[in-house]
Amino acid sequence: MHPALNIAIKAARRAGQIINRASNDLDLLKVTAKQPNDFVTEVDKAAEAAIIEMLQEAYPHYGILAEESGETAGAGSRDTEYQWIIDPLDGTTNFIHGMPQYAVSIALARAGVVEQAVIFDPNRNELFTASKGGGAFLNERRIRVSRRLKLQDSLIGTGFPYRAFDLVDTYLAIFKELTQKTAGQRRPGAASLDLAYVACGRYDGFWEFGLAPWDMAAGALLISEAGGLVSDLRGEASYLTSGNIVAGTPKVFAPLLNIIQEKLPDSLRG
Ligand code: IPD
Ligand code: CA
Ligand code: CA
Repeated sequence: MHPALNIAIKAARRAGQIINRASNDLDLLKVTAKQPNDFVTEVDKAAEAAIIEMLQEAYPHYGILAEESGETAGAGSRDTEYQWIIDPLDGTTNFIHGMPQYAVSIALARAGVVEQAVIFDPNRNELFTASKGGGAFLNERRIRVSRRLKLQDSLIGTGFPYRAFDLVDTYLAIFKELTQKTAGQRRPGAASLDLAYVACGRYDGFWEFGLAPWDMAAGALLISEAGGLVSDLRGEASYLTSGNIVAGTPKVFAPLLNIIQEKLPDSLRG
């Protein structure tokens, strides 16, 4: 195993312990709203601090992009091409409500290309990992995307727009069409796990608008290493910067992207 992946796994498990401990006492949780419908708790911050401490101890020269503390340059000028991308608690709204669907997500990018990925679900003790060129794993067993061939038979994950409402009508038009043309859609509320579920075949596809890089970085590598396809709304690779992502098995991806593209305003169409 790549040593950086090994450290990232340890950091994700450490964060998972902090989250699990806090989940026993949700009444004590202090919640603040960063903006409307965007919450943060001291657990997000404590988990992030623990992750960063472990990663920096092992790789002091690597940069960091983390949801709660933002961008930090690595020490000195060496290894500036490496950056950890961290979501210490993906699914905070679920966590606050005691809904057991959230995860820790850690990715390592080199010159903007994600090479290592860890997503840890502390409720189910499920550890998803991937290394570029080395495949994707769930609890150390190799995972592949599903063999589903038709969109009509597919279970599709998604995320509702609940902060930026500019695309809500577009979103609903796509949602309506996909509800008629798939076996069903799901919105569990933690994008990193949604992507991991495409990688291990629980979903056949996924789409969401307005995500942040830390929601997607690890999950997207998992999917491509599991044999799936991931793109932005134009069918290109810039989902980490656009925040809009479509993913699926090789057969389901194209019809899913087509339906989404047909409903997009011209400004977003490829
Ligand atoms: C959120 C979750 C959710 C997605 C949101 C994200 P957070 O992350 O991944 O599924 O729909 O857009 O912001 O804020 O809980 O880390
Ligand atoms: Ca997130
Ligand atoms: Ca988060």
